[in-house]
Amino acid sequence: MLLYLDCDTGIDDAIALALLLAHDDVTVAGIGTVNGNTSAAQAAANTLGLLALAGRDDIPVAVGAGRWRGGTPHVHGGNGVGGVPLPRGGQPDSRTAGSLLVELARRHPGELHVLATGPCGNLAAALRAEPELPGLVAAVTVMGGALRTPGNRPEQAEANIADDPSAAAEVLAAPWPLTLVPLDVTLRHRWSEDDRAALAAARDPVNRAIAAMLPAYLDSYEPRFGARQLPLHDPLAAALATGLVTASDKPRLGVRVDVAHGRTVADPAAPGIDVVLAVAEPAGPVILERLLRNGS
Ligand code: RIB
Ligand code: CA
Repeated sequence: MLLYLDCDTGIDDAIALALLLAHDDVTVAGIGTVNGNTSAAQAAANTLGLLALAGRDDIPVAVGAGRWRGGTPHVHGGNGVGGVPLPRGGQPDSRTAGSLLVELARRHPGELHVLATGPCGNLAAALRAEPELPGLVAAVTVMGGALRTPGNRPEQAEANIADDPSAAAEVLAAPWPLTLVPLDVTLRHRWSEDDRAALAAARDPVNRAIAAMLPAYLDSYEPRFGARQLPLHDPLAAALATGLVTASDKPRLGVRVDVAHGRTVADPAAPGIDVVLAVAEPAGPVILERLLRNGS
């Protein structure tokens, strides 16, 4: 599978990236970064640092933009990855993230899978630059939204949608094969302290770096869960997009973005998209096993 990742790295974005790199059947053709958990520039530095640790400096990383709301240092730390210093990686690509996405889609018509684990600004920019984009890509998976569960932002909103609601509205309304992976399912797939310890004991430097990031993430979710656990938002979207886990409940629903409140709303009059509401197996162990298999 040929894949373009659009991300706001971000602790759970970092896990998603590591999972994609560890997947035998996935070729990461390019990565774009977007304003979200941290600035698009800092997310690119984080992504390039992780790629350097993985020995994958060959993957282009293009800086995008999108609406900037100041990031979430209380969740992802001041640098977006829990304050963990990463090596200085290569230089960002000279293209914007939207341009990189359009170029890859044109070069591989019908082949490119798009996975968005941050706000939708880069995808919306790409749609505006290339109106034929929906017909050029194989599939789009977006981690975002909250339909039947409270959000992680005020007024039942979810961060990736709330950070750039206009862009999300464009992306959800576009005529491409889109799967939404909302909080309804991501909040139910978690790691605990034991999973962090397993990664910390690994030899692989990416796994060890992720283990070092997790205490900040565990701290931020502990009050919500009443337990020392973290949700696998972005890794679950990556696992679904690449077939590592399978959806067991994926209705086709009309979903629109309530731009004023930054939230997703089920609306039968809106274009239908596939919405993952449940996964067949607990994803946490599957994701951990894949990371440890390649880098124990
Ligand atoms: O709401 C969860 C999403 O917001 C994840 O993508 C996380 O990285 C944050 O950006
Ligand atoms: Ca993210």
